[in-house]
Amino acid sequence: MSEAARLPGCRISEDAPLQARNTFGVPARAPMLVEVTDASVLPDLLGQRMLRDDALLVLGGGSNLLFAGDAPGAVLALDTRAMAITDDDGDRAIVRADAGGGWHDLVLWTLGHDLAGLENLALIPGTVGAAPIQNIGAYGVEVREHIHVVEAFERATGALRRLSAGECGFGYRDSVFKREPGRYVVTAVEFALRRAARVRLDYAGIGEELAAMGIVGAPRASQVAEAVCRIRRRKLPDPAVIGNAGSFFKNPMMPAAQARALKAGNPALPVFPTGDDAVRKLSAAWLIDACGWKGHRDGDAGVAASHALVLVNHGGASGGQLLSLARRIAASVHDRFGVSLEPEPRIVGATW
Ligand code: EPU
Repeated sequence: MSEAARLPGCRISEDAPLQARNTFGVPARAPMLVEVTDASVLPDLLGQRMLRDDALLVLGGGSNLLFAGDAPGAVLALDTRAMAITDDDGDRAIVRADAGGGWHDLVLWTLGHDLAGLENLALIPGTVGAAPIQNIGAYGVEVREHIHVVEAFERATGALRRLSAGECGFGYRDSVFKREPGRYVVTAVEFALRRAARVRLDYAGIGEELAAMGIVGAPRASQVAEAVCRIRRRKLPDPAVIGNAGSFFKNPMMPAAQARALKAGNPALPVFPTGDDAVRKLSAAWLIDACGWKGHRDGDAGVAASHALVLVNHGGASGGQLLSLARRIAASVHDRFGVSLEPEPRIVGATW
């Protein structure tokens, strides 16, 4: 620790509070918090004994995790924020962004440079570095479609690696970074974006929103982003106002035959294609809503009144209280529909 404390490019504090560093706003502490302002110190820093520990937690915006207890080991936060166009042939450009910057700031920056691709992902909370970890997605687009390279520090070898999108093993809300949480620290992401991209309006609600905005004909990417922001502001609670981590459960995947049988008994259940003809995705929100949870409250742990997939902290809930509510919700969905729900955020200090 004393060696690490002397390194330039990082700030270290002991017994650090994490309540302001998770969007659920639940209390938790870390034995040591390391904030890195220069990613080139990572090889030296992560070679230190305390930070070689498996329990090291890399924290982005804290918008996709639930502290059900304190952090078991040191917490590392990257505070690096540069963004730049590193290659540009007039149509296609490569944008490189440091891991610590805000995701929505990057979306606005790319649109401001007339680069399209990320507009459907506007207003997703969290950092640039967290985006590939769970392959963030919204309104018919997943970030993997625009990722060129993920730059990551590999802890076991001490090497800075450049992983192509193929090497990242992306799936629905999943990647190699999520499956092997201790292996890499994402330091930067490169995106391939286009000037003359066709905007994607296939997800239900986007076309209607653009029409309500008075936009006729082909919308610009920035107008699609504005439509997405309007829908999100209406449907999803703002973590700055009420603690939450977006969707708490993944939409469950299942064999097409099983989905067909469920749909036969529940004709209103939304069932989505997945790209694999044998597999379907169900709406977790609908299943939870059908079990009567929307707007439910157990003390300060609750379910958003505007969206059944979002757990909220009305102020004083602990991570443990939110987790126990989540388990009761999953159990009731399983009892009624025989479908197992999996949490989307990472749970720290407990297992699901
Ligand atoms: N629905 C209900 N009750 C509700 C909300 C929704 O029955 O309270 C039903 C409606 O039929 C609706 C359908 O569920 O048509 C789908 O709802 P929505 O469009 O809100 O999408 P979602 O499947 O619930 C996913 C992502 C969100 C993303 C939206 C929009 C997951 C786990 N969630 O939610 O991502 O913003 O699509 O693309 O895949 C997140 O990951 O944190 C997140 C918010």
